[in-house]
Amino acid sequence: MSDIITESTDDGVLRVAFNRPEKKNAMTGDMYSRLADILNEASENDGVRVVLWHGIGQSFCAGNDIGDFLDRPPKPGDFPQGRLMEALIAFDKPIVVAVQGAAVGSGTTMLTHCDFVYAGESAKFLMPFVNLGLVPEFGSSFSIPARVGHLRAAELFLLGEPFTAQRAVELGLATRVVPDGDLLATATATAQRLAAKPGGALLTGKRLIKQASIDPLNEAVTAENQEFMVRVGSAEAKEALSAFLEKRPPDFTKLPKQPVAK
Ligand code: COA
Repeated sequence: MSDIITESTDDGVLRVAFNRPEKKNAMTGDMYSRLADILNEASENDGVRVVLWHGIGQSFCAGNDIGDFLDRPPKPGDFPQGRLMEALIAFDKPIVVAVQGAAVGSGTTMLTHCDFVYAGESAKFLMPFVNLGLVPEFGSSFSIPARVGHLRAAELFLLGEPFTAQRAVELGLATRVVPDGDLLATATATAQRLAAKPGGALLTGKRLIKQASIDPLNEAVTAENQEFMVRVGSAEAKEALSAFLEKRPPDFTKLPKQPVAK
């Protein structure tokens, strides 16, 4: 069975589900590429009016697959995450997402490109980039401070502490908290309501509300990606990522002094 499942129905809603529940829906490079392809195709397909996105199992998405990251570190020309960032920034049709359980790293930052984010009561968001020796991605270094302000962004990124569904709503990072049992039905109902609206106006409306953020998002993505590729090969990241796989706490105290972006 594929790690990402899609289902198209007559109602104009394309359902996209992460299907790697045994790994908390952590994303391999191939999954990022596949999702980029799905969105690019959906963009061209008049039968798709809305995308409904969710994760199968207990979690929405545990972010980058850490083993895959170490085996196939992103580099220029081989950066599937970057392909997905481009696809999300360009995507004009509404995306409705249902988030339960863990939404870690890109599992949170990808949500900043969605239009309706329903958070199940079990949802736990986390952007642990600094803790992992990495930097924010998916344009979140622009979009998150733009939504929550610098001080809250510093808490979320620099401390990298988890936050609840309720806190995500307060911060403007989720639309509404929904009991887990109603989560997919709530998201589906919104997707279907959207799909029944006049498609031209819907697309144009989304394009217009995104318009002012496209240039700064692209600039943020370019800067983030450059840093990310350096950071992912750093001794700090290697220690943090290996520690996760070896199920031990990381130890940064013995590492040589690390380069810092100017
Ligand atoms: N990459 C690779 N494997 C991952 C993963 C990831 N991002 N997240 C979870 N997994 C794997 C675990 O290694 C474990 O595999 P195993 O059963 O072979 O040991 C399995 O998924 C279940 O995860 P586990 O940690 O046992 O579940 P949990 O409920 O205790 O915790 C998380 C869930 C998501 C909080 C925790 O797995 C986690 O912190 N993952 C890392 C997330 C992360 O840092 N992502 C950002 C990367 S840039």
